[in-house]
Amino acid sequence: MTTDTPVQEKQATTAPRRHVLDLDDFSRAEIVSVLDAAEAMREVLDRDIKKVPSLRGKIVLTMFLEASTRTRVSFEQAGKMLSADVINISGSGTSAEKGESLLNTALTLQAMRADVLIMRHPHSGAPYFLARNLTKTGVINAGDGMHAHPTQALLDLMTMRRHLGSVDGAKVVLIGDTLHSRVARSDIYGLTAMGANVVLSGPPTMMPLELLRGAGMPGVTVETDLDRAIDGADVVYAMRIQKERAAAGLLPSMREYTRRWQVTEARLANAKDGALVMHPGPMNEGLEIASSIAHGPGSQIEEQVTNGVAVRMAILYQLLTGTEGGAA
Ligand code: NCD
Repeated sequence: MTTDTPVQEKQATTAPRRHVLDLDDFSRAEIVSVLDAAEAMREVLDRDIKKVPSLRGKIVLTMFLEASTRTRVSFEQAGKMLSADVINISGSGTSAEKGESLLNTALTLQAMRADVLIMRHPHSGAPYFLARNLTKTGVINAGDGMHAHPTQALLDLMTMRRHLGSVDGAKVVLIGDTLHSRVARSDIYGLTAMGANVVLSGPPTMMPLELLRGAGMPGVTVETDLDRAIDGADVVYAMRIQKERAAAGLLPSMREYTRRWQVTEARLANAKDGALVMHPGPMNEGLEIASSIAHGPGSQIEEQVTNGVAVRMAILYQLLTGTEGGAA
């Protein structure tokens, strides 16, 4: 199933990990261990009775202070399939409305013996702040502002590895608004750690400036001509246009965006035969991706969602048991 072998350590694996904030502190070996555990979890997910007792007695809290469907539901499902008690907290109806600070809310939840707090927050860095201040409760970043979305990157890696065998040496094109995309940022860390060649393509106003200027990051290049970027690609990954984050004026018009940057059948024809088509969801179908491609034969978009549950089961299991194994 996998030919990935750990070759390079970024950090010595000493104390078990307590938090998952981004993939920049994950070694290749640690990523491989999560993906291997996720394969075992995927097997549980495909069973008729989707439940194992591995996390019985553990308390998992989700706190999503920004919109989410698949990430929130998949974390909840992952916790429940492992028999943890999962409690969902939303922004409204909590003491935040009475002016309680994020830290005091988190300390309160820690005092109730929450084992892990899974948080999505509109501000970059919010989960880091909590991780620094919580001594007993672990923190999982489920997306912070424009910054990071590590479990999305892990599910993307799992999806690619299942189809390509290994992402080592694969050409992966991330298309669109990579400047405002926390998915792109975490994908770049994960993909480069696993040896992929990442190509960023999109409007120059939506690309990380330092990369455009050629300041460079090993394994990452920028190609503003989309046809050239897609040429010979193993994976064509369309990012969602971040309307809520993009400052006005970055785009000439949505029509212009679609004309130049939409992933279409004609453009996909330049990729490798059988290239994977990916998107983190939610899609603006007909804008960054043509409908025929989103639902076409190469599309992995629903597969990404399924793998998202398996990866989140693996992360919860590893974090809460301090061990690497798969399902019980
Ligand atoms: C992403 C997010 O919210 O960061 N969605 C997701 O978690 N699958 C992608 C996006 O909204 O662009």
